[in-house]
Amino acid sequence: MKQINLGSQGLRVPAIGLGCMGMSEFYGSSSEAQNLCVLDRAADIGCTFWDTSDMYGPFTNEILLSKALKGRRDQITLATKFGVSRGEDGSWQGIKGSADYVKACCDASLKRLGTDYIDLYYQHRVDPETPIEETVGAMAELVKAGKVRYIGLSEADPETIARAHEVHPVSALQTEFSLWSRDVEADILPTIQRLNIGFVAYSPLGRGFLSGAIRSRSDLEPGDWRLENPRFTEEAIARNSRMADFVAEVAEEIEATAAQVALTWVLSRDVPLAAIPGTRRTERLEENWASQDITLRTEHLDRLESLINQGVLGDRY
Ligand SMILES: NC(=O)c1ccc[n+]([C@@H]2O[C@H](COP(=O)([O-])OP(=O)(O)OC[C@H]3O[C@@H](n4cnc5c(N)ncnc54)[C@H](OP(=O)(O)O)[C@@H]3O)[C@@H](O)[C@H]2O)c1
Repeated sequence: MKQINLGSQGLRVPAIGLGCMGMSEFYGSSSEAQNLCVLDRAADIGCTFWDTSDMYGPFTNEILLSKALKGRRDQITLATKFGVSRGEDGSWQGIKGSADYVKACCDASLKRLGTDYIDLYYQHRVDPETPIEETVGAMAELVKAGKVRYIGLSEADPETIARAHEVHPVSALQTEFSLWSRDVEADILPTIQRLNIGFVAYSPLGRGFLSGAIRSRSDLEPGDWRLENPRFTEEAIARNSRMADFVAEVAEEIEATAAQVALTWVLSRDVPLAAIPGTRRTERLEENWASQDITLRTEHLDRLESLINQGVLGDRY
């Protein structure tokens, strides 16, 4: 199993974790029994870096994880997030980061997760109305209180990352990164490398698209959030399918799956990073987990590099 260190504070995780968001919301329906099977299997094979947020569900994803954590809390590196405020009815209440809000969210997450500590606590989105020093100051107090072990940010810009890191060492930055979302390469990855902060790549499969499994809007269930995403309009899917075809060609040559090629490419970057593909299916969990045993030859990496010139149709959000 490939393990990596995120940041300088001692956080060590498997290079492939498990994104749990889609088990509760955004990517179609799912069954709790099936999700618990995926989580059990993940624990059994060593895929023990689990990613959730208070806003997934909202709130129900953390409750789901609490069930899977029973009896094995110490085996799991549990990451959750605060900052995207939602009501019980799913309503969106804005981005928040005041010190009181951070502390209240942490207590609520601990209660839902049925644990007394969070391994990695991220600010999900930076609150433009609250100085990052206040937010991270509150996160540092949570570390002191033993409620949180390491802190992280998600989708923060270089200046905010640097300011946050001055207040308390940031172990991880979580941001979207995949063959079709490479904008972090310009400023974000150099910044975190300079500061010795680890990277967690979310949506490493391009929200499933790079696996080749989504060829039309009808492949998505009614209500699937991706139907609202600019990369999943009929026109964007038709155009971006060339990228998925290209990944599939490389996959065929190396006798892997397209999802594995997409993940292996992310893991092959010259940055300490973990990828957290999401799935509600045990066979896909195992397929994704096996990516760490695949090596892409220079010839394949060069060909995948040329994908960047094809451009992607549609913003990430
Ligand atoms: N910080 C943030 O703002 C943020 C934003 C988005 C996501 N995240 C985190 O990152 C995690 C992963 O991102 P994501 O779920 O958006 O995208 P992703 O991992 O790129 O893709 C997930 C999608 O791919 C499908 N899939 C997974 N493995 C597959 C395989 N081997 N073959 C074919 N299809 C496969 C899944 O469907 P099935 O479930 O049917 O397998 C799901 O629809 C989330 O779960 C969440 O924890 C964080």
